[in-house]
Amino acid sequence: MTTPQHDQADGTVTLESELGPTGRPRRDFPEPEPLASHGPARIIALCNQKGGVGKTTTTINLGATLADYGRRVLAIDFDPQGALSAGLAVRTHDVPTIYDLLLSNKMPVADAIQHTNVAGLDVIPANIDLSAAEVHLVSEVAREQILAGVLRRVAGDYDVILIDCQPSLGLLTVNALTASHGVLIPLECEYFALRGVALLIETIDKVRDRLNPAIKLDGILATMFDSRTLHSREVLERVVEAFGDTVLETVISRTVKFPDATVSGTPITEFAPEHPAANAYRQLARELVFRGAAA
Ligand SMILES: Nc1ncnc2c1ncn2[C@@H]1O[C@H](COP(=O)(O)OP(=O)(O)O)[C@@H](O)[C@H]1O
Ligand SMILES: [Mg+2]
Repeated sequence: MTTPQHDQADGTVTLESELGPTGRPRRDFPEPEPLASHGPARIIALCNQKGGVGKTTTTINLGATLADYGRRVLAIDFDPQGALSAGLAVRTHDVPTIYDLLLSNKMPVADAIQHTNVAGLDVIPANIDLSAAEVHLVSEVAREQILAGVLRRVAGDYDVILIDCQPSLGLLTVNALTASHGVLIPLECEYFALRGVALLIETIDKVRDRLNPAIKLDGILATMFDSRTLHSREVLERVVEAFGDTVLETVISRTVKFPDATVSGTPITEFAPEHPAANAYRQLARELVFRGAAA
C-alpha cells in the first residue's frame, strides 16, 4: 500500500498519516539544487562533550552525502584520537595535520588537505600531537580564534566545512565554536543523554556573547535510535519536549553497519548505499540544505 503524498509549497513531500520518530508528520526534503558556483563555505562544528554519540560518524557521512549532492566539502579532524582521519582512510603520520596549521600561520593550508575516496570530500587530518595544542595555544594572543584564522584562508574553496570536535569543552572546542557559523549536536538516544547538553548550550551562549555573535544552533541530531525499544522512543520524546524544532526531523537509527563501514574506512553511502542508514544521512544533508544550514 502506498501512503498518500502531499506536495507542499516549500518543496517538501509530506507523507500523510505517518508520523516520524520526532512526532512530526514524516516528510521528504527536496533534492538540493546544483550549485552554479562554489564557496564561501558555511562552517559547522559537530559538537558534544560526551564521547561515542556519533560526532565522527555524522561528520563522515554528512560530508559524503553533501559531496554526493555536488557540494565541495572539507572535513576537519579536530580530535587527537584521529577517528575521522581513520574513518576516511587518510594518512595521519608524516603528513602535515591540523596541529601544524594551528601552530604556524605561515604554512599554506593546502599543504595539509588530503583528498578522500569520495569525490568532493577533502579532509585535514589529526593525530595525537593535537593533544598538546591546548597547552601551546594557552599563551597565544587571541587563542580562541586561531582555527578561525586557518579556516578563513580556505573557506573560499569549499561550500561546507565540517569540524569533528573532540569530546571536551576545552580550548580546542571553543576554537571550533569561534570558527563556526553553526553547531550541530549529535545526541545519543539513551538515558542521561540530556545530561551535559545544558552545559554545552551554555558554552555556545558564552561563545556567542564573547567571541562569535553570529553562531547558530543548527540542530540537535538524534542518533543511535532504536524504534523497537520504549526506552529509545521515550528519550527522543523528552528531547523534543526540551528542544522543540531545534531537534532535526532526521533521526539516525542504531545499526551495526556504522561500525562495519568505519572499519572499512568508507562512508556508509559507499559501503552500503542501499541501507536505510545511508538514506538517513542523505535525508540529513537534504534537511540541512532545506533549513539553510548548508549550501
Ligand atoms: N547509528 C549508529 N548505530 C550504531 N553504531 C554507531 C552509530 N553511529 C556511530 N556508531 C558507532 O559508535 C561508535 C562511536 O561513534 P562516533 O561517531 O565515533 O562517536 P563520537 O565521535 O561522538 O565519539 C563508533 O564505533 C561508531 O561506529
Ligand atoms: Mg569522534
